[in-house]
Amino acid sequence: MSDARISFTVNGEAVSVEAHPMARVLDVLRQQLHLTGTKEGCGEGECGACAVLVDGELVNTCLTPILQLEGTALTTIEGVADGARLHAVQEAFIAHGGAQCGICTPGMILAAVSLQQRHPAATDDEIKAGLAGNLCRCTGYMKIFDAVRHALAQAAPPSEMRSRMSAANEPRERSGDHGAPASERAGEFEGRSPSKHEGPAR
Ligand code: FES
Ligand code: FES
Repeated sequence: MSDARISFTVNGEAVSVEAHPMARVLDVLRQQLHLTGTKEGCGEGECGACAVLVDGELVNTCLTPILQLEGTALTTIEGVADGARLHAVQEAFIAHGGAQCGICTPGMILAAVSLQQRHPAATDDEIKAGLAGNLCRCTGYMKIFDAVRHALAQAAPPSEMRSRMSAANEPRERSGDHGAPASERAGEFEGRSPSKHEGPAR
């Protein structure tokens, strides 16, 4: 199969790349577009380090062929801040010590931004479920959880805060990302074994 030209937007800018249709989005972002904020962890769709938003949906770029991006709108970690002003989730990660080596951080932040957009009044369990597809081997997860919880609380209007507090006291069904049942992933978030990625941040 020969190379193809694929056009899409990245962080609001139109781009057009020539690549093998099955080339990984992760490689095109890092090697052709020099957007190295997107990290490779496991390379197998399990850790979420390579996650970006595609038309607002969280997608693992290590498993996504570039052909699927035709006509889409991507947001990478480079597009989360508003110029020099960090996103509230980024500010919260700094304030709560939610990043250490940094490998998981771009994917975690994009997962949190996605959660904030879909569920601005997410309960604690919904936050855990929303982040359960992203692995971190450094922080022990609680600092990340605290950061996301803080960012959502800052953004939620008072009425949503009230419903969040009452919802937190009720048993409920959860839905989430990345395919696995939310009930399993929410449990994994606090007690997850180390991820497969071994390399340093690149
Ligand atoms: S590098 Fe893509 S999910 Fe781990
Ligand atoms: S900070 Fe999460 S893997 Fe290092």
